[in-house]
Amino acid sequence: MSALAVDHLLGIDGMKLDDAERILETARSFDEVNARALKKVPALRGRTVAMLFFENSTRTRLSFELAAKRLSADTLNFSSSGSSVSKGETLRDTARNIEAMKPDLVVVRHQSSGAPWLLANAMSGAIVNAGDGQHEHPTQALLDAYTLLQRFGRTPQEGLKGKVVVIVGDIARSRVARSNMLLLTLLGAEVRVAAPKTMLPAALEQYGVSTSHRFDDVIGEDVDAVMMLRIQKERLSAPVMASEADYAVGWCLSRQRAARLRDDCLIMHPGPINRGVEIDHDVADDPARSVILEQTKNGVAVRMAVLYLLAVKRAVTTEEA
Ligand code: CP
Repeated sequence: MSALAVDHLLGIDGMKLDDAERILETARSFDEVNARALKKVPALRGRTVAMLFFENSTRTRLSFELAAKRLSADTLNFSSSGSSVSKGETLRDTARNIEAMKPDLVVVRHQSSGAPWLLANAMSGAIVNAGDGQHEHPTQALLDAYTLLQRFGRTPQEGLKGKVVVIVGDIARSRVARSNMLLLTLLGAEVRVAAPKTMLPAALEQYGVSTSHRFDDVIGEDVDAVMMLRIQKERLSAPVMASEADYAVGWCLSRQRAARLRDDCLIMHPGPINRGVEIDHDVADDPARSVILEQTKNGVAVRMAVLYLLAVKRAVTTEEA
């Protein structure tokens, strides 16, 4: 298998289709490892993965940690709360000190867009963006694409051509939406995004998606998957809606709206969910259509693939140097 074209996973923007397919294909083999009684392989034995979380996380953090451990890597865990960031240490100085411990791979989540690029310049290990501000969340998009392909019974090479995916909610402030628009279109899907005017940025045509300001206009029998997003309150400086109840009237995936979707239409959400705001209880827990917990499960195999392939690339680059 040839190495990835990239040395870091900073975003989906600019990613080659070959790299996306390779990550998704490799995740399939790690899915098989995760189904075994003994869920561990020695692929990263002797390597160190530093996990730097400057922003809260449940799914991403835990699945990266599990991914590293299942690959037999040593892990370094850093949270900004409880660290010397609270004493005024900058991101660059934090990075320089962690670099002194020579991690091979560095997973970073940060509230500032672009933080992973800063680390890629300041550190020698391979950097993985685990979410930077409202910019990108590449491993979320990869695990979402993986979930869709698995459910549709397609290989990564077969892609998502002919499938319609609707993304709904706070598109403007969502790194999940941006990475998904880029990756799902790269894999051939038709992507429709819908949001209130205050949550839909201009110039989305560059992503090859269609847009709407009415949820009810984008759902129907032709839709294969609906991805709901929460309102990114932590990124709001002023209210963008009258109230959550008003928002829910126009933008909640309610039981009534879900009834307009096919029985095999997949219902997705990256989490965390605000039940009753962007998605109703029974829709989120729909045993036939909701794949929300599958997304979380698949995050482990996809992140194993990302860590493994970047470590392979690093070994190849270091040998060649
Ligand atoms: N989807 C996602 O990024 O969830 P966390 O914020 O819990 O990591």
